[in-house]
Amino acid sequence: MIKKSAKLYSYKNDELRNKIPSEHLVVVKPKKQRAVLRDFFETNVNLWNKYYDKNEGNPYKHNLNVLKLILKNYRNKKTLLDVGCGTGIPLIKFLKMGFDAKGFDFIDTSVRLTQDNLQKHGYGVNLVFKADIENSSTLPSKKFDIITSVGVFPHIINDKGALRNMKKILNENGLVLLQFKNDLFNLFTLNAYSEDFFKRLIDYRSLPKSLKKDIDIFYKQKLSAQSINSQFGILSKFHNPLTIKNELFEPTGFTVKNIHFFHYHRLPPIFQVNHNKIFRKLGDEMESPNDWKGYLMASSFIVEAQLK
Ligand SMILES: C[S@@+](CC[C@H](N)C(=O)[O-])C[C@H]1O[C@@H](n2cnc3c(N)ncnc32)[C@H](O)[C@@H]1O
Repeated sequence: MIKKSAKLYSYKNDELRNKIPSEHLVVVKPKKQRAVLRDFFETNVNLWNKYYDKNEGNPYKHNLNVLKLILKNYRNKKTLLDVGCGTGIPLIKFLKMGFDAKGFDFIDTSVRLTQDNLQKHGYGVNLVFKADIENSSTLPSKKFDIITSVGVFPHIINDKGALRNMKKILNENGLVLLQFKNDLFNLFTLNAYSEDFFKRLIDYRSLPKSLKKDIDIFYKQKLSAQSINSQFGILSKFHNPLTIKNELFEPTGFTVKNIHFFHYHRLPPIFQVNHNKIFRKLGDEMESPNDWKGYLMASSFIVEAQLK
């Protein structure tokens, strides 16, 4: 049995990854990483608008499509809280769907931009506030029927702590719809992420030095030459849809009702470089949240889980 490491890792930037294939992952110190994450989210606050922009390819569109599809089954629930609301684009969608929705973010600028956005759409600025899902003292006393969260868990330092905090602000039978990045997709991408995946799978760190050297050469030849999207040098975790129920949701008191896959890829990302338009079209045609292929070919998934 391979021993799992409890350490947190983040990715180095692309340039370094190509130069030092054996050191793709760096150990993250939680306290320092919190400051790094805040700084990143403060300086890149406008990215989230861009990610929903048609002219930019709208890479986040599937997030909302899948959430909207699931939420249609929960018309009986009324109050909704969007954790890590960014610039408020998902929050406004939920309000338009008729939910009594609020959102929060741990970055001042996000809160301000969400207020602007709310005002633009005719909603009150009091529907957004500042809080950190990893710090229970910042959370509201009011409870909600549904908690949603997109793009947050990859950057959470203590997953179980964050889920337990969600539990505190959920009503009885409360529901969470949480987005995660699919670790198994790294098998399909055949790039440097696959190298990380394989190295974790074989517990590379525990192997003898001479073997490691040959493994590095092998992966460098087979995989590392292919560039990947930068992870900005911040903690950006993947989660395994096969183990997330037993490892994260069950121990924190949630029953997983379903896992919904999205952002399908018909081909590994390298083909996007020369075939961008058809690449996206082929992926879009595959979107089907409960297809088994999602385990391997979808880069994200939403866990639908209910309080026990
Ligand atoms: C990738 S962005 C996505 C924003 C938004 N959910 C969307 O889909 O447009 C992640 C957001 O989560 C916020 N965030 C990250 N960690 C957080 C935490 N611990 N508590 C509250 N917000 C957090 C960030 O500031 C950022 O606005």
